[in-house]
Amino acid sequence: MAPGVLDKALCGLIQRENPNLIAGFDKAEDAGIYKLTDDLAIVQTLDFFTPIVDDPYLFGQIAVANALSDVYAMGGKPLVAMNIVGFPIKKLDVSVLREMLKGGMKKMEEAEVTLVGGHSVEDPELKYGISVTGVIHPDKVISNASAKIGDKVILTKPIGTGIINTALKPELVAPEIIDKVTESMITLNRKASEIMQEFGVNACTDVTGFGLLGHACEMVVEDARVGMVIYPDKIPIFPETENFAKMGIVPAGAYRNKMFRIGFIEQQSKMSDWMMDILFDPQTSGGLLICVSPEKADTMLQEMKKSGIENTTIIGEIVKESKGKIILQ
Ligand code: CO
Ligand code: CO
Repeated sequence: MAPGVLDKALCGLIQRENPNLIAGFDKAEDAGIYKLTDDLAIVQTLDFFTPIVDDPYLFGQIAVANALSDVYAMGGKPLVAMNIVGFPIKKLDVSVLREMLKGGMKKMEEAEVTLVGGHSVEDPELKYGISVTGVIHPDKVISNASAKIGDKVILTKPIGTGIINTALKPELVAPEIIDKVTESMITLNRKASEIMQEFGVNACTDVTGFGLLGHACEMVVEDARVGMVIYPDKIPIFPETENFAKMGIVPAGAYRNKMFRIGFIEQQSKMSDWMMDILFDPQTSGGLLICVSPEKADTMLQEMKKSGIENTTIIGEIVKESKGKIILQ
């Protein structure tokens, strides 16, 4: 589910309580979860957006990898999906739509997700995404707000996609960096999710529109039982991101994210403004942010690296001090 103005509009509107609703829109969880029986629940999510890369085939792949990620972040298994398309039929050739959907299908195939339908409207601006339905055991749901004191905090992909994508328009980005970032955005969080389920972890979310610190806040702020220490020098960042951030090439979303959550951030030594911009940079199809017990952290990390999730890094830990806060150390 993509955070945004919808949450604000729905805020205060009371929905009749349903005991089968395990995770709903009021809890800032990644996906909605509804219990069908004692050992089966459905996981649902939906995401769509305007193109962030020129190539429609790649954009289709990114949009699908991004939407599936919320199911993976909850520990669910996605099964079926539906396309959501807004298409400017008077401006663009239908071959663009075809390429985009082909990219989407490639990722669904990789994820073993079956396309069951979809809906399109004419739209002055191209938009694409999918709705996803998956399954999960009701007792195996991985919440974003259940981290335990002592947990290591693991991030599975580098950050900086928002800044790099902003620098694409003035054509400042070298081709090899574009390739690296695109490769990361089309990479499913499936393998990372399967490995974390195998090990058993305490909390997980995926890093998307609110940026690394925005999503980190969701893990500690809501019920404020714990605090999270983050080591900024340990965070994997795409090459050149720093340079662009220093030049002020930062998407507006990073500033919105910062304004929304800066009150929850404690800085042990003052961060530079550009580093804060990177830490709040909105991500597309970002990695999983996982809280796992210290006994399991190193072996899980090795297992992920062995499976090709090469940038996986321990970037912090859960502490009992500074409850409800992120401490940048
Ligand atoms: Co989402
Ligand atoms: Co999410």
